[in-house]
Amino acid sequence: MKIIKSKKELQSEIGILKASGKSIGFVPTMGALHTGHKSLVERCAAENNVCVVSIFVNPTQFNNTEDLEKYPRNLDQDAELLESIGCQVVFAPESNEMYEPQELTAPFDFDFGQLDKVMEGKYRPGHFNGVVQVVSKLIQLVQPDKAYFGEKDFQQLAIIHRMVKLMDLKVEIVDCPIVREPSGLAMSSRNARLSEADRKKAEEIYKVLSESRNFAALLSPIELTQWVEELIDLVPGLEVEYYEIVNTSTLQTVYSWSEPSVGCIAVYCGDVRLIDNIRYNTIDN
Ligand code: PAF
Repeated sequence: MKIIKSKKELQSEIGILKASGKSIGFVPTMGALHTGHKSLVERCAAENNVCVVSIFVNPTQFNNTEDLEKYPRNLDQDAELLESIGCQVVFAPESNEMYEPQELTAPFDFDFGQLDKVMEGKYRPGHFNGVVQVVSKLIQLVQPDKAYFGEKDFQQLAIIHRMVKLMDLKVEIVDCPIVREPSGLAMSSRNARLSEADRKKAEEIYKVLSESRNFAALLSPIELTQWVEELIDLVPGLEVEYYEIVNTSTLQTVYSWSEPSVGCIAVYCGDVRLIDNIRYNTIDN
């Protein structure tokens, strides 16, 4: 497995792979890899000749410097895991390799439509600008046939689909289901920051979400939204930032179950911000 730090070296490696007709799969990550990433990488390695993974804690998508500083980083451990599951190329640049100084201060210009006005976009202004900025750069560098993203970041995935369409990028985006711990807690790099006691509290999030599916026949989406928020806020140490039941494509609030619906949540567990989601009118998730 090669660990590449410069764009130039990456481009030359990709050139060689393309010239020999290899299909390329790509998993962009911010490192601190967990079982959720592992499943993306394993799928990517199985479906392509070559699997490329990027590890880059992207500063432009953090709107909170403390969150950026505290984001877990462990390249050696991540590289060991990636090598054992079939990744052939790791791209791990420094920030000054990815960005010119002016790119770190000027907002990236992208037409999000309504997709960034709600949920994560509303509570983390500028976050998706940074995500689109970095993911579009990475896709242009790696030129993958397929790129793999987890459905835990539901809004991010909807925005990535729009980005590929509007920028006319020649890549197939593969949506991958949320991977959960046996307790139901969605896998996240941020879980590493939870104490044992906080982890137990955080487990209540998915318990309430999954129970809420049983009430979808009895309550309207708005009533159910309130029910979920109230139940989670009752757990000492948990504080809901938002819970919204939205259309799976437009991400706008739904008022009737006739629309394909997903409930998306952000919850503070102490100072750790966790997100999760659940589909209502499908049999999966
Ligand atoms: O989902 C993530 O980990 C990040 O937002 C991504 C897609 C790697 C871009 O930095």
